Amino acid sequence: MSELRFDGRVAIITGAGGGLGRSHALELARRGAQVLVNDLGGAVDGSGSSMSAADRVVDEITALGGIAAPNHDSVATADGGKAIVQGALDAFGRVDILVNNAGILRDKAFHKMDDAMIESVIDVHLKGALFVSQPAYRLMREQGYGRIVNTSSASGLFGNFGQANYGAAKAGLAGLTRVLALEGAGRGIKVNAIAPIAATRMTEEILGTLADKVSPDSVSPLVAYLAHEECSVSGRVYSVAGGRIARIFVAETHGVVLGKNTPEEIQAKLSLIDVMDGERYHLPLSLEDETAIIAKALSEVS
Ligand code: NAI
Repeated sequence: MSELRFDGRVAIITGAGGGLGRSHALELARRGAQVLVNDLGGAVDGSGSSMSAADRVVDEITALGGIAAPNHDSVATADGGKAIVQGALDAFGRVDILVNNAGILRDKAFHKMDDAMIESVIDVHLKGALFVSQPAYRLMREQGYGRIVNTSSASGLFGNFGQANYGAAKAGLAGLTRVLALEGAGRGIKVNAIAPIAATRMTEEILGTLADKVSPDSVSPLVAYLAHEECSVSGRVYSVAGGRIARIFVAETHGVVLGKNTPEEIQAKLSLIDVMDGERYHLPLSLEDETAIIAKALSEVS
């Protein structure tokens, strides 16, 4: 097995001043990538800012013999996204890899969540990924090559109490991954997502004894693979924690075409609609795929 190297490649890692982002930045830099270390340097809830988080990671990479430059813009605005991508161009002249990792938490039961909690979390995670991805994606499209790795979460894909804002944003990242994978396929661009669990400041109060087994650097090898030229997949979402990796996918039951399309008939057939045995579900890989499944089901009854 030859080492997967990134010599000559330029990577942007957002939120790389600590936690998972720092670990991804170190992993890619160790393998030869030139890394733009972006971080606003705020608290877990997004408050405050400081240049030192990104600068420290750049110093770490440089001390290990790697190449990195800092960037302190926020991902949460369109201008910030453009400035981050421009920062990579100014420092290294191109962009091959984008890891959308920056994130904050503002947890609260939904009935108590205020507007600022909703807006700030959607802004950083979901709009942030769109705002940084778009200028990077445009460059990737022009050069016919790119890798984007988004950071989703089990919270959005499976649900988690107290995270309506965060879960909605993280599920949105899975959607963004699917759409960009389809749009970028003809231009050498691969887009995948991870749903990690790792012991960082974000999770220090919730992981308990699992914390010892799920270091951030156990997540970064998957990010490196998905960011590499030899990555063979696109549009996928992987659960990753402590060296365990699994694919997460969206499936659809075989479905039922109702004789009478009434609420009463739906009530009567719900268990059949919901049934998920091995033979009776579909794995549509796009909206087009799903539409074809629907068309086939309807044609079989007409
Ligand atoms: P962390 O708090 O250590 O790292 C997040 C980084 O993003 C921080 O350094 C922060 O300063 C930066 N950041 C926040 N807002 C920013 C903005 N507007 N612009 C630029 N940078 C900004 O937390 P962690 O755990 O490393 O999280 C990294 C990503 O992984 C996040 O997207 C998080 O939601 C996600 N994640 C983490 C999980 C875990 O178990 N740690 C679980 C699932 C997802």
